[in-house]
Amino acid sequence: MEIFESPIYKDDIGRRTFLEIPFDARERFCKPKGTIYVSGTINGTPYRSKLLSRGGGKFLMVLDKALQKSLGFEGQTMNAHVTMSSEELEPAGKKREEPVAVSSGMDVLAAIKTRQSIRKFASRPVGDDMVTTILCCGMYAPTAKNKHPCHFIVIRNKQLLAELASQNSQAAMLESAAGAIVICGDKNIEGMKEFLYADCAAATQNILLGIHGLGLGGVWCGVALNSDWRKRMIAALELPAKLEPVAVIAFGWPEEEKELRDRWEPEKIHYDKW
Ligand SMILES: Cc1cc2nc3c(=O)[nH]c(=O)nc-3n(C[C@H](O)[C@H](O)[C@H](O)COP(=O)(O)O)c2cc1C
Repeated sequence: MEIFESPIYKDDIGRRTFLEIPFDARERFCKPKGTIYVSGTINGTPYRSKLLSRGGGKFLMVLDKALQKSLGFEGQTMNAHVTMSSEELEPAGKKREEPVAVSSGMDVLAAIKTRQSIRKFASRPVGDDMVTTILCCGMYAPTAKNKHPCHFIVIRNKQLLAELASQNSQAAMLESAAGAIVICGDKNIEGMKEFLYADCAAATQNILLGIHGLGLGGVWCGVALNSDWRKRMIAALELPAKLEPVAVIAFGWPEEEKELRDRWEPEKIHYDKW
């Protein structure tokens, strides 16, 4: 993996935004020909992209609007801390290999019974491997008719977290979170509208359990259908019309300890009829 500092700037006519690559990417990534696909983080924000060759061993990476927004880039040249690895282009029709997940020693029943909403977070960062693991938990949730309509927007950008926190007092903890995952449902997936919320809720709970199993803390913030927060979130994340944001999970290293409560309510169990 390459780690470097480099400027992000707009081109002369202000149309495209570039990150300058300060080395000969062909040579460094051992790619004598073809498109160079890359992934990594810019100021902690994950990206996947490809490089443009400018000849003479010079390369640039184009930053799309969503990435610019996550980085808080507003047109003024800024310096960025970049990690970059080259990626193999996946063959058509072949699924990407699943990343190796971080493991948890916690028993599943213990995880279910000891999970609690955590709303106070330490400033310690959460590694990308952990985030990948909890995303994987979301993807392993059951979905109606096995349609997998959920998309997961990972927010690591502090400015964006603070913006979302400031718009909803019930989600104020986002400001101190190491990150957030916005669980969105794809409304266009055929026959899925009636189960979209159930699918997203199942993924959300799986993620919360994964977070807890890793020793992290998290809390589910609901996105009400008629809320101003939902509208502002759609705008801030540039969500396409087909994506419905259903839940936001703030996560980080816990900075609060809570007493476990007894939740066993036998009076709510009914056999065969009410
Ligand atoms: C659909 C849903 C929406 C929620 N929205 C919020 C929220 O906006 N802010 C918040 O702090 N907690 C929110 N929570 C978390 C609940 O307050 C929490 O789960 C509940 O108080 C029980 O506590 P526990 O998670 O520690 O078991 C939400 C939970 C659910 C299931």
